[in-house]
Amino acid sequence: MYSINENYQKLPGSYLFSTIAKKVAAFTEANPDKQVIRLGIGDVTQPLAPAIIEALHKAVDEMGQADTFRGYAPDLGYEFLRKVIAEQDYKARGCEISPDEIFISDGAKSDSGNIQEIFGADNRIAVCDPVYPVYVDTNVMAGRAGTYNEGSGMFSDVVYMPCTAENAFVPALPREADIIYLCYPNNPTGTTITKEELQKWVDYACEHHSVIIYDAAYEAYISRPEVPHSIYECEGADSCAIEIRSFSKNAGFTGLRLGFTVIPKKLKVNDVTLHSLWARRHGTKFNGAPYIVQRAGEAVYSPEGKAQLRDQVGYYMNNAKIILEGLKSAGYEVYGGVDAPYIWLKTPAGMTSWDFFDRLLEKANVVGTPGSGFGPSGEGYFRLTAFGSRENTEAAVERIKQM
Ligand code: MLT
Repeated sequence: MYSINENYQKLPGSYLFSTIAKKVAAFTEANPDKQVIRLGIGDVTQPLAPAIIEALHKAVDEMGQADTFRGYAPDLGYEFLRKVIAEQDYKARGCEISPDEIFISDGAKSDSGNIQEIFGADNRIAVCDPVYPVYVDTNVMAGRAGTYNEGSGMFSDVVYMPCTAENAFVPALPREADIIYLCYPNNPTGTTITKEELQKWVDYACEHHSVIIYDAAYEAYISRPEVPHSIYECEGADSCAIEIRSFSKNAGFTGLRLGFTVIPKKLKVNDVTLHSLWARRHGTKFNGAPYIVQRAGEAVYSPEGKAQLRDQVGYYMNNAKIILEGLKSAGYEVYGGVDAPYIWLKTPAGMTSWDFFDRLLEKANVVGTPGSGFGPSGEGYFRLTAFGSRENTEAAVERIKQM
């Protein structure tokens, strides 16, 4: 008789965004006349930029001709894409990352969930609290998180690093941790870290032989010069950090699916490189992102693509400004939204995050994400995304003001 992976039984409830989707579906079914505005999950709404559409069409045509048809993609991804990433995302910022240290994938969610597989079961993970749920949930599935305590909302073997208004959303260095997950610009708080602060984490990791898994999915939203675009801008990071990037938020690929992970060859335990383990995993479990999507990814780095995407990111950041200023003028305490497409607000009058979710849905017909869904220190906070349309963003802010 077969048995199940009991670790799955330790996961509380369903995945955060699935729970929200179910609640919203129930509300819309009961209130078919209400126009619900969704500012919950960070899904983009603007269409793909013309340079990307053009690259997709061209690649589709190539797939229809015998002499340009492509089958399985190379294990690490096509060289044309890895080269342009190495040049423009890294070399241009003074980071020495070579194309063969870049692994193309179908997105940052899969990579940030799967990366834990190359580490031993006894590693202790440290996460910011609140945190993107994927990091914790995948470690729970792998049996690395211990047991869940309903009261505290924490797993016994996970180090939680609180990020609240009190510490300006910058966590203190952990007392002990083997694998440290950092996400900057941060999801969910929309806040970020300076290069000087990030350097302390890199120094800590080098000193304690820890590894940092750095999720930089929101890098395109950085506006201030003191904020690093890559962890490899910090000295020594190429011997202690893995970086994960996405094409979802900078180029609207949430439906196309494309991302990459950088594993410098210097990261090793004894003589075994993490690069070789991830390459082995990739080769065994993944058959590559589609050729047409990788060609679309290449177009993100073309001069036309870059100009069009700068406008698109600017569009979402204007939404962020509208939300930030609108909520501030309505008396809300708000954070983020300057270097990231998320606005993190304090719930009014000490309401719980889920109570505020219900109130917002019922009174304003606006969907957001309850802070407590991202971890216990998210309780009393609430996240709104700037990825809506301008019209919906403005309408949502007006409705919230009138609540
Ligand atoms: C979010 O809303 O936190 C993100 O959209 C989730 C993701 O990127 O997977």
